[in-house]
Amino acid sequence: MEAMTKSAVLILLGPPGAGKGTQARMLEEKFGLIQLSTGDLLRAAVANNTRAGQQAKAVMEAGELVSDEIVTAILRDRLAEPDCARGVILDGFPRTTVQAEALDTLLAETGRKINAAISLEVDDSEMITRISGRFTCGTCGEGYHDSFKQPATANTCDKCDGTEMKRRADDNAETVAQRLVAYHDQTAPLIAYYDAKDALQRLNAMGAIDDIASELSAMTQRAIA
Ligand code: AP5
Repeated sequence: MEAMTKSAVLILLGPPGAGKGTQARMLEEKFGLIQLSTGDLLRAAVANNTRAGQQAKAVMEAGELVSDEIVTAILRDRLAEPDCARGVILDGFPRTTVQAEALDTLLAETGRKINAAISLEVDDSEMITRISGRFTCGTCGEGYHDSFKQPATANTCDKCDGTEMKRRADDNAETVAQRLVAYHDQTAPLIAYYDAKDALQRLNAMGAIDDIASELSAMTQRAIA
């Protein structure tokens, strides 16, 4: 595992299907940072039928953004857990300017700062290809793709040998189209937000998973050194 600054905070920005989850898991393994995916936290809240999950369920199925209040509260609670002191990769948060400002406040309160906001840049047509072929291991969450990343043995997870593979309810064509609209309207402005803070780094994420992982590792190494 690579050496790193204590409590590093790395943000992965990017549209649905850009590869944020795929790359965040790689960075987690390589650098010991904790992946904080608000999508995963919200899906867990829905599965556990919590109050936040009940409020989020229909919004997520429609491909819209869950309210800033709910998402920020979930993120704040997770960030306060002891393992996050090792440093975190924010995957899917912030997604609005209100969330970005809330994150600034939250980090200032705990003496932390953003090391880098890395924007994974892909074409809209590529996102749709990636999302439509996506599936994950139901046991450990490892991500796969029908064309780009299949398990070595069909229907068996390379990481944990789990045999139950899942597809997300919001990965249908109609919802994906709405998620893209939400991204362009509400999340893409964060690229300028972090550029103005000199925290933005751009990465062309149109290549193969391993090539992007190499570039992103080098960027991360510099950002958290
Ligand atoms: P969330 O779970 O965050 O979904 P998303 O942002 O739409 O992103 P995805 O998980 O779809 O894509 P990804 O970039 O992680 O791509 P992946 O690595 O899986 O959010 C879901 C919903 O929750 C939102 O719509 C919203 O309702 C709500 N929500 C979440 N956070 C919120 C917030 N902060 N505020 C408000 N609401 C919030 O890759 C995709 C596929 O492509 C995989 O199969 C992978 O194997 C493959 N792949 C990856 N990289 C490559 C590559 N380089 N080449 C070929 N294939 C690749």
